[in-house]
Amino acid sequence: MAVESCRLIELPRVDDNRGSLSFVEGGNHIPFEIARVYYLYDLPIVAERGSHAHKKLEQLIIAISGSFDVVLDDGRNKRTFHLDRPNAGLLIASMHWRELANFTPGAVCIVLASLPYDKNDYIRNYHEFLAAVESSRKSE
Ligand code: TYD
Repeated sequence: MAVESCRLIELPRVDDNRGSLSFVEGGNHIPFEIARVYYLYDLPIVAERGSHAHKKLEQLIIAISGSFDVVLDDGRNKRTFHLDRPNAGLLIASMHWRELANFTPGAVCIVLASLPYDKNDYIRNYHEFLAAVESSRKSE
C-alpha cells in the first residue's frame, strides 16, 4: 500500500468558553474500530520512537500535547508529517515503516490502534520490511 494511503484526518473540535474538546469514533472518523489505545509521554527531546512497520495494524497518531515529526516510508517513497495539534490525526496504513522524532518538551503522542498488541505483527528489520514490500508487490 502506497504512502499516499496515509493522510492527516481533521478531527472535530468543539470550542466554548470552558475550553476545547475533540473526539474520535472508530468506523466513523477513522476507517477501523479501535481495539487499543496507547500513548508516549515523558519523552526525552532526543527520543526516536517507532523504527518498525506493522503487517496488519492500522493506527491513528495524534499529538495530544506538543509536537513531533513522523516519517512514513512505503518502501519506495517517504513522507514527513509534522503533528502539532490535538484535533488532527495521522492515519497510518499497514506496511509502512515509521519513525517518530523531534518531540517538544512535554509532548504526548496518543495512538489509536485497530488490533490488540501482537509482537508477531511487527517488522523491526528495515531490510526485511523492504523484502516483504517487494514480494507483496510482485504477487499483486
Ligand atoms: P515499542 O513498540 O518498541 O515502542 P515504539 O512504538 O516506540 O516502537 O514498544 C515498547 C515496549 O512496549 C515493547 O516492549 C512492547 C511494549 N508494548 C506493549 O506491551 N503493548 C503495546 O500496546 C505497545 C505499543 C508496546
